[in-house]
Amino acid sequence: MPALDAQARAAELHAALEHHNYRYYVLDAPEISDNEYDGLFRELQALEAQYPALLTPDSPTQRVGGKPLAAFGSITHRTPMLSLNNAFSDEDIAAFDKRVRDAVGHDEIAYEVGPKFDGLAISLTYVDGVLKQAATRGDGYTGEDVTANIRTIRSIPLMLATDAPPAMVEIRGEVLMQKADFERLNRDQEARGDKLFANPRNAAAGSLRQLDSRITASRRLTFFAYNLGEMDGGPTFATQTAMMDWLQALHLPVCELRRTVTGPDGLLGYYREIGTRRAGLPFDIDGVVYKVDRSDYQTTLGFVSRAPRFAIAHKYPAEEATTTVEAIDIQVGRTGALTPVARLKPVFVGGVTVTNATLHNEDEVLRKDVRVGDTVVVRRAGDVIPEVVRVLLEHRPSKDLFGGEPLHDPFVMLTACPVCGSHVVKEEGGAVTRCSGGLFCSAQRKQALLHFAQRRAMDIEGLGDKLVDQLVDIGLVRTPADLYKIGLLKLAELERMAEKSAANLLAAIDKSRQTSLPRFIYALGIRNVGEATAKDLARHFGDIDALIKANVDQLLQVPDVGPVVAQSIRDFFDEPHNVEVVEQLRAAGVSWPVMAAQAAATSPLAGKVFVLTGTLPNMSRDEAKEKIEAVGGKVSGSVSKKTDYVVAGADAGSKLSKAQELGVNVVDEEGLLELLNMTNN
Ligand code: IVH
Repeated sequence: MPALDAQARAAELHAALEHHNYRYYVLDAPEISDNEYDGLFRELQALEAQYPALLTPDSPTQRVGGKPLAAFGSITHRTPMLSLNNAFSDEDIAAFDKRVRDAVGHDEIAYEVGPKFDGLAISLTYVDGVLKQAATRGDGYTGEDVTANIRTIRSIPLMLATDAPPAMVEIRGEVLMQKADFERLNRDQEARGDKLFANPRNAAAGSLRQLDSRITASRRLTFFAYNLGEMDGGPTFATQTAMMDWLQALHLPVCELRRTVTGPDGLLGYYREIGTRRAGLPFDIDGVVYKVDRSDYQTTLGFVSRAPRFAIAHKYPAEEATTTVEAIDIQVGRTGALTPVARLKPVFVGGVTVTNATLHNEDEVLRKDVRVGDTVVVRRAGDVIPEVVRVLLEHRPSKDLFGGEPLHDPFVMLTACPVCGSHVVKEEGGAVTRCSGGLFCSAQRKQALLHFAQRRAMDIEGLGDKLVDQLVDIGLVRTPADLYKIGLLKLAELERMAEKSAANLLAAIDKSRQTSLPRFIYALGIRNVGEATAKDLARHFGDIDALIKANVDQLLQVPDVGPVVAQSIRDFFDEPHNVEVVEQLRAAGVSWPVMAAQAAATSPLAGKVFVLTGTLPNMSRDEAKEKIEAVGGKVSGSVSKKTDYVVAGADAGSKLSKAQELGVNVVDEEGLLELLNMTNN
């Protein structure tokens, strides 16, 4: 046991550090210097080092945790976390107030009002005044245990500032990231080459859902309390306002924008006041929340389904601003989709500076008739990329001073990919324009390589996300054909690549040279050509050259190939770049057994249904499946009267007994090989 005076001093230091945290992080009014604060902190650390029994998880020295978690546990909320009904107009609010008045039989209602924070709802559980648990909202009943991450938020007290805490209390509020902290985080992310967050809410969510609380600690998060869940042994409150005052007295951060107002005029006055201040607030809000103030009225009104009848969220429209279009560029996405993007004169919308807005696709640009030089309205709604809403035609620049001919022509979509120069194809029936240089285009390179290496395609074990990123980023690999040219030396130079794994990868690449035609066709990543279609094509054409040459009519002869698929295949091979890569792959030694064209139709096993069960001695299930399908058979997962053969290996279970019951032919691996041989003669 630590000496009594050590215990007492530790308790004093806890309280002092909590107090100064509150002054600094909640009130923004520190009473001591950073140096003095550090002195107290180190004194507590030293005491805890001397008397490990003093070191508890709720010590201010333990805000940043140790080891990362393997996964989040789950926590059941004692009182469910509900949602709010939304209102969008003055009439909605008048109707809400009337419903409340009718239900409680009183003609002027007081409301507690505050901002609707655009963050994540969190429930904090304090036991005897000490923070014990923190959980996300989850489905409203059960959330994720994010206690370690919540402790890193300095404005959240680890101990409630009271001598008489309730035995247990759930405190609800919102975790969010301030706009300035969000912009700083994104600048840092960019400098490190990490992915950017789309908006402050995503950044807050991403930060809170870290398994390593040290990462959360390095991000600055903000918390505001706005409600109570379950409470044992605390005070009772006559009004919501009194409850909020109590939370504030416990040193929980409570937003200063809260008020108590009366009647619909009070509500709408508050809505307009906050609306005018919204863009200048340090954090995103998407509305304001009104709660009937009197607790007895709240009880009378109760709940409907999952929302209280005594509260409502009054939403603001998405923020808009006016600016001019300086250029319209075309971006090529990972799947080859061409997206027109308006480059804008920088404009401040909803707290962030917007310089680009998506125009979605060609049809959208033409429908809105957006042209270079136009004055446009842009909108930034909570979590979506900014978009161009409409053109202000009265501001469109013209060739002369008298408002004649417009200065700029209507938008015209590119006919070649701006990244690789391959021809582009507009999807039939859709608005999307795509680059056809699938194997060749650097915008699609990483995606194409990952697909190529997939287990069900060329099956190159060990070639995953991270490696593809590196190989492409340093310029070692541009197309799948380049994979077969990599040398051990170059590979072993890569970051985090041990010589052993480099050798393993090269072996896997080498092994993939021996493949099958269906796998090869699938690996090319032709749009709309999945595994099954690749098999049909292989069976029908027998080799790749016939497929490359096939016209749409010939492609339509293949079972299950319709006009869309046929056109995708044609578009793919019409692009010389893709055919070139196929040639390079063959030159690099990629090969497959030639299949007899149309073998499937004439094969005695064509259309026969096989079920595989148990472990075969010399081949995996995937191999067996491939062999059966190569001769036109089908493999099904369950035995029925329609099954032609059950192939049973060791430890075959219920499928075997079912087959025997139904009188289905049962063969072993040898029997299967015999059947397969039959078809080759
Ligand atoms: S009170 C019983 N107050 O809105 C009432 N919620 O749509 C429960 N929210 O999940 C909620 N700001 O994440 C309340 N001032 C505020 C709020 C707020 C944001 C969120 C909260 C909740 C969602 C409900």
